[in-house]
Amino acid sequence: MQKHPPEPFRIKMVEPIHLITREERQKAMLLAGYNLFSLKAQDVFIDLLTDSGTGAMSQHQWAAIMAGDESYAGASSYYRLKQTMQNIFGFEYFVPTHQGRAAENILSVILVKPGDIIPSNMHFDTTDANIRARGGNPANCVNKEAFIIHSSSPFKGNMDLEALEQLIRSTEPEQIPFGCITITNNAGGGQPVSLQNIKETAALYHRYGIPFFIDCCRYAENCYFIKQREPGYAEKSLLEIAHEIFSVADGAFMSAKKDAIVNIGGFLAMRDADLFQKVSNELILREGFVTYGGLAGRDLDAMAVGLLEGLEEEYLAYRTGQVAYLAQKLLDVGVPVIEPAGGHAVYIDAGNYLSHIPHQDFPGQALAAALYLEGGIRGVEIGSVMFAHPDPQTGKMNFPELELVRLAIPRRVYTQSHLDYVVEILTQLSRQKISIHGYRITYEPPLLRHFTAHFEPLG
Ligand code: F0G
Repeated sequence: MQKHPPEPFRIKMVEPIHLITREERQKAMLLAGYNLFSLKAQDVFIDLLTDSGTGAMSQHQWAAIMAGDESYAGASSYYRLKQTMQNIFGFEYFVPTHQGRAAENILSVILVKPGDIIPSNMHFDTTDANIRARGGNPANCVNKEAFIIHSSSPFKGNMDLEALEQLIRSTEPEQIPFGCITITNNAGGGQPVSLQNIKETAALYHRYGIPFFIDCCRYAENCYFIKQREPGYAEKSLLEIAHEIFSVADGAFMSAKKDAIVNIGGFLAMRDADLFQKVSNELILREGFVTYGGLAGRDLDAMAVGLLEGLEEEYLAYRTGQVAYLAQKLLDVGVPVIEPAGGHAVYIDAGNYLSHIPHQDFPGQALAAALYLEGGIRGVEIGSVMFAHPDPQTGKMNFPELELVRLAIPRRVYTQSHLDYVVEILTQLSRQKISIHGYRITYEPPLLRHFTAHFEPLG
């Protein structure tokens, strides 16, 4: 197979995009308090803020939307989704939710008590925040390789099983109401977890009687990497690999805005009837009835089709190839990125690229801002703005290990020449990077500050 297979689709509808002038970009940033989340999307040329809900739906998904059944209860759209859910994930129960964090919220409301610890390889920001919002403590036990930027390790998302066991042994059993793993590991470079590691993680949790939930929003990309990289899986279908993954879990939650290639949607799935009852009650209170969960019937249909399209091998070869292409081109021009490339995004090591900017001046934020000012490209900081938290005991700031800028690739949206443009802009930036300065925060909310913080350039 080619290293970077061309798009397995052709384009039938286009959405115009424009590059506004440098002066207009400067004005837009000032107005946005230098927070890229506050920009108007029309002022962005290449939008790599997220791969979440930004994918292009196929003609089959749009056709399915026309068949959406908008009945309040028992819609046929729900039963079509239920069949696909059974086909891929095989859990006894599930509820649709409007997106991933709604599922995380419901799970946290029901299971997390103040002082509880919820382990994972790495929690992503909303999972982390939903646990904290209930007084719990998210704990990351990813293996050390995740923090080595340049590595050829095939499964850098793997759980450090020793660290996990140590954590479990040093905690009262009733203080860990459930344990997680995130596939792929978004906060650590979109890196996959091997099936062996998933099975060993499940066995470890189960040995201590802890229910095991998978945050599976990019499970299809993870399945593809398992097929490519893990001995014994080359001949298996991606569906068989998915079955093997989910067979060892007690539940899963998914933002369908990723690997199900829909603009909105998610689910929470589980095996336990008792938990399902509690989840249903919470869902009805906050999201909607159990057969639609905050979505329209047509959204459920788009999801049912998208879940299967997202698991197609030809599509995943193109998708992971596109991400690998951008990573390689950036390495070729001397921009440090996490290696190997992840499944959905290229992560620039901003801490290293802008080594003259210390943690507390937010090198990731500085690079993300510079990328927009230079070329109208929007990425996202995944570093101290997103993850630095004061130590609850000492009040001293704990900075994350890595200061990253993520360039997330929306699914089926941008072509290779868009990616070449990104490489060009970064090449230009590299020549003047010493003049890029840090930022300071002038406003921040107590949780998830990166979404709404205001910044001011230093110098
Ligand atoms: N879990 C992971 C691993 C995620 O990456 C996200 C979202 C969520 C849960 C929450 O899902 O947005 O549907 O509520 N990540 C997006 C991103 C926002 O840009 O990576 P949601």
